[in-house]
Amino acid sequence: MVIFGITGDLSRRKLLPAIYDLTASGLLPPEFALLGFGRRQRAGVLPMIREAMQTGARTTFDERVWDRIAEKFRYVTGTFDDVVAFEALGRELARSEDTIDGTGNAVFYMSVSPDHFIQVCNQLRTANLHTHSSGWRRVVLEKPFGRDLYTSRVLGAAVETIFGDSVFRVDHYLGKEMVQNILTLRFANGLFEPLWNSGHIDHVQITMAEDIGLTGRAGYYDGVGAVRDVVQNHLLQLLALIAMDEPATLSASDLAAEKIKVLTAARLLEPYEQTAARGQYVASSRGAERVPGFLEEEGFDAASTTETYAAMTLEVANRRWAGVPFFIRSGKRLAQSNTEIAIAFRPRDHFGTRVVPSTQNTLLIRVQPEVGISLRIGTKVPGHGMNVKYADLDLSYATTFREQPIEAYERLILDVLRGDASLFPTQAEIEASWAIVDPLISHWAAVGRPDPYESGTSGPQSGHDIIERARRAWRPL
Ligand code: BG6
Repeated sequence: MVIFGITGDLSRRKLLPAIYDLTASGLLPPEFALLGFGRRQRAGVLPMIREAMQTGARTTFDERVWDRIAEKFRYVTGTFDDVVAFEALGRELARSEDTIDGTGNAVFYMSVSPDHFIQVCNQLRTANLHTHSSGWRRVVLEKPFGRDLYTSRVLGAAVETIFGDSVFRVDHYLGKEMVQNILTLRFANGLFEPLWNSGHIDHVQITMAEDIGLTGRAGYYDGVGAVRDVVQNHLLQLLALIAMDEPATLSASDLAAEKIKVLTAARLLEPYEQTAARGQYVASSRGAERVPGFLEEEGFDAASTTETYAAMTLEVANRRWAGVPFFIRSGKRLAQSNTEIAIAFRPRDHFGTRVVPSTQNTLLIRVQPEVGISLRIGTKVPGHGMNVKYADLDLSYATTFREQPIEAYERLILDVLRGDASLFPTQAEIEASWAIVDPLISHWAAVGRPDPYESGTSGPQSGHDIIERARRAWRPL
């Protein structure tokens, strides 16, 4: 596996620890070797990799595991415009093939800014490293896949011209345990499928709340915002898994076919002034601590209209979901970090009352930080009378399963090596997702600016207004 940008943030925080953990669990083949390509000089790179693995790994650091990784590690110093460096990379790959693995198989992992994706792929082609006479060559891309439908098409076409169908696009949410469990929950149980439609489901809420801000990420985030950063990819993937029909098999192509169908049927409800909201966090005090606002964080343009909070209403225009609103929200510096999906079933009696998930049957899929599923049911309060209280049947992963959960990147890296693309969104899914959010992004670019919200809250009032106008309420954060 060749990592471009091996000393960068994503590589240090996610990829290298995952490679360590996969090695420690014995899941990588003995002939696996890691190659780095980057601007830095070789000398400092190995200690940095060790440090990243030691700090980030899930399993306890073991010198013998590290020795196995370090012994086979190769590094090429160079910039992405340097033809000679790519030739040197070719020689290292050939050397690995001769001395270590003998197959010629290679994964090229682009842990670099998307501005460089096409350039690096072109260099790989020029150096003739994109194919191999007997082994396979695969490329892994990280989001963002463009800024809109048009740019994502250009990128997709450029990369596919070189690598054909050996392109793996990472959406790390699909590597998360509970996200994979959505399909198991829906289709391994006979219980839910008969109810999984507008006859029984009142609405769906998808929340991805983060308490962290954007310190240090201005370069990437300014001009991107919450919709492009997490809604277009992670949250629409969650929506697709919730709303899709049962795939014929769990193969990558059958899964993609169903997801594309549902993403093509999904659209944002209008008028956006009433169905969507955006916000930007402003300074607040948490106890004695003052939390800076978005515009005070280093690197952000003082006039920036980038949204750090977004909420919207979607519909899925097919027979199963006719009339069922899907509410999505995500924000930075909110009251707490919490990703969850609430499926709110139709209440038994809702004359004149608001439909609130806490007083109706609600299936809650808790993605993180706590992983689990709960089902809210009405039950009789013990004692005299027939009073009903809604309470949760609870399945917590931490208590039900003893195994420590694996990290999303462990699963995804292993799947790339195995050639299993089922947890990777296809180009068509990515395009269908851009087609959903592009009109809202353009609308926001043309009028107004985000509403301010204080750090540590549940977002701007406008975010609550959109769901309350539809006579529902967000689950409390
Ligand atoms: C990334 C976004 O894709 O996902 C970040 O770019 C976000 O802004 C992150 O913080 C959240 O990932 P996780 O796995 O911590 O939920």
